[in-house]
Amino acid sequence: MRFRRVLALASVAFAGAFLSIVASAQAAAPVKPGDAAAGQAKAAVSVAASAQAVAPVKPGAATAGPAKAAVAVAAIAPPAAPVKPGDATTGQAKATVCGACHGLDGNSSVPLYPKLAGQQASYIVRQLELFKSGQRQNPIMLGMATPLSPQDMADIAAYFAKQKVLPGIADTTLVSAGEKLYREGDKKAGIPACMACHGPAGQGNPGALYPHLAGQHAQYVQQVLTAWHGGQPWGKGPHAKIMLTIASRLSTADIAAVASYIEGLHSAVPAAATATAAAQ
Ligand code: HEC
Ligand code: HEC
Repeated sequence: MRFRRVLALASVAFAGAFLSIVASAQAAAPVKPGDAAAGQAKAAVSVAASAQAVAPVKPGAATAGPAKAAVAVAAIAPPAAPVKPGDATTGQAKATVCGACHGLDGNSSVPLYPKLAGQQASYIVRQLELFKSGQRQNPIMLGMATPLSPQDMADIAAYFAKQKVLPGIADTTLVSAGEKLYREGDKKAGIPACMACHGPAGQGNPGALYPHLAGQHAQYVQQVLTAWHGGQPWGKGPHAKIMLTIASRLSTADIAAVASYIEGLHSAVPAAATATAAAQ
């Protein structure tokens, strides 16, 4: 009897061990030689998932909120991989959190949050790097940019660059003064034509990192130009000095006029821009 019981116990133990081996074998089975592409997709999902966790933070929330959440996301972020060209589809998922302020399609409704739709990808990446390093100082965007890897930045930038900016409306009382400054500058005051760098339709120049301006909120443009006028650069070096010098020569009236003109500036094909605006 005793022997049988021992045998029975032993067989139960054996069966248990066997099952657990099967179980672990099954768990192990799906592991194939590492697939870099699949790994990237998984890493992207984990970033997107953790980025979405930040989403409930609303524009009105205290700046400390996004900053703390950002630190948590940074801890989960996978180690840096070589940056591939930005992928707009992956970028869309990663950009969900940005949509709270900038609009899901990059057309923000609050005029102090810049529109990102149609902005050049290279410019968006550069600004995110400047925020992350603290060279362009903004507590909200420091918190938002800190957890982003270079690949996240490239993907998000690719997504927003592909969106169509919705044109705004210029103030009719300011438009002629604004247009003159934008197209001709003011020789006496040493102000170059904005068009020379930002393009006749405000499309900018991606190679030179001159941003797209057309349709941008006047209030945001006004705030940026006023800060530069006061001598606050975004980073160091000759590139950062360009707008600092130009803005130092703009009067308050110039800034208001040119900002309003920029908001009303449409793409090179006005008919197409109007059709897009009407369709949306
Ligand atoms: C809580 C609101 C908020 C959220 C969320 C947010 N931003 Fe911003 N963002 C701002 C504000 C405010 C500014 C303007 C900063 C300034 O005045 O310098 C800004 C500026 C920017 C700029 C500079 C645009 C320009 O024209 O110079 C970029 C690029 C940007 N944000 C990208 C992002 C991305 C990418 C995300 C998501 C990862 C994001 N933002 C999330 C509020 C937000
Ligand atoms: C010589 C080239 C040049 C000229 C001329 C020029 N800009 Fe710029 N602009 C730049 C560069 C470069 C930047 C990016 C600044 C940076 O990254 O520090 C910029 C950025 C801006 C921005 C910030 C846009 C954003 O969304 O971040 C505004 C607004 C702007 N310029 C308005 C103007 C206006 C108005 C004029 C004419 C009075 C003008 N610019 C003339 C080169 C130029």
